[in-house]
Amino acid sequence: GRTQTEDPSLTTQPRNDRFLRALRREPVDCTPVWLMRQAGRYLPEYRATRKAAGSFLAMAKNPELACEVTLQPLRRFPLDAAILFSDILTVPDAMGLGLYFVEGEGPKFERPVRTAADIARLGVPDMGSDLRYVTDAVSTIRRELDNSVPLIGFSGSPWTLACYMVEGGGSKDFARVKSLALNDPAAMHRLLEVTTDAVIAYLSAQRAAGAQALQVFDTWGGVLSPAMYREFSLRYLKRIAAELERGEGTDRTPLILFGKGNGPHVADLAASGTDAVGVDWTIELGEAARRAGGKVALQGNLDPVTLYASPEAIRTEVGRALDSYRDGNGGSREGHVFNLGHGMSPDMDPAHVAVLVEAVHELSAR
Ligand code: CP3
Repeated sequence: GRTQTEDPSLTTQPRNDRFLRALRREPVDCTPVWLMRQAGRYLPEYRATRKAAGSFLAMAKNPELACEVTLQPLRRFPLDAAILFSDILTVPDAMGLGLYFVEGEGPKFERPVRTAADIARLGVPDMGSDLRYVTDAVSTIRRELDNSVPLIGFSGSPWTLACYMVEGGGSKDFARVKSLALNDPAAMHRLLEVTTDAVIAYLSAQRAAGAQALQVFDTWGGVLSPAMYREFSLRYLKRIAAELERGEGTDRTPLILFGKGNGPHVADLAASGTDAVGVDWTIELGEAARRAGGKVALQGNLDPVTLYASPEAIRTEVGRALDSYRDGNGGSREGHVFNLGHGMSPDMDPAHVAVLVEAVHELSAR
């Protein structure tokens, strides 16, 4: 296989390095922007590729098609980063749970994890075989990007993956996974330990294949009480930040810890050893910057629903988020990566995405 050391083209810095510079809190000409779920059903070209592939999973498991849909939003908008087209649930799928999608119902597992015996059977999947389609997609995308913008690799957080593994799909109240944590914390910790090992191996494999930044999605950390968040989510995010090899200087592969509803925990996350923290719109970006105290870069945090609003309202809200960050960061825009506070929805208007991206670059120009 190709690795960073074998292929010199993979270590070359991208021509547009705003995103990587912002993650290092270095000066940039304007604030970089990318959007969670920037590839997806809101784009007609995505729907066409998906239709031709037959299903979401067929598309995600085919490196050429995953590459195609990764590049689609970059052909339309001057985004400052690409994100690998895949899903967080590829890891539990490779652990043997059997991922499938029911139209209109979201992801499901054929074999959810319910008992201590189920947990004892789990192991770290082999990156070279079970998840080879993901690292092949990463190297295909790097080749096609040709060092134009950096490529982000990603994983779910151990807690968020455990939510899907135990619930067997999405959930309204997370009663099953929380009950397991409350009734048998030792079993829950065994599940989170093996999942953390898998996440670290998965992110390392994406880095070796050419990913230039890595994001962990802790989508469901915010459903926990503060005490349970520290015990069942934060602890494992810290282990990832401490154990994941990332390199040094301009060769460093920065780590972004994104979490929905993680506002109360920004200070702890900033001290976790991560390079950046991604927040949603329920915390003022300036307040997040004050709590982070300049230790990390921040990513966020426009409410995705803003994309349904008028172009004027979008510009106003973009300006507000940019200025809030600057005011909380001692008057400097450095160390901010603009993003939504969560992913885009299928019924959003691509023309409004163009307005958002242009507003970020224009209103933040130094
Ligand atoms: O951001 C990007 O453009 C990269 C692609 C990406 C997808 N999923 C593609 C996808 C990323 C980063 C994810 C992560 C993911 N997947 C998360 C964490 C981020 C978040 O949104 O909170 C979660 C919780 C999942 C689990 C998952 N996979 C859900 C809830 C769904 C949506 C089901 C639905 O019908 O909307 C998926 C499927 C999925 N993953 C789609 C996409 C574009 C929709 C599939 C389709 O085309 O029908």
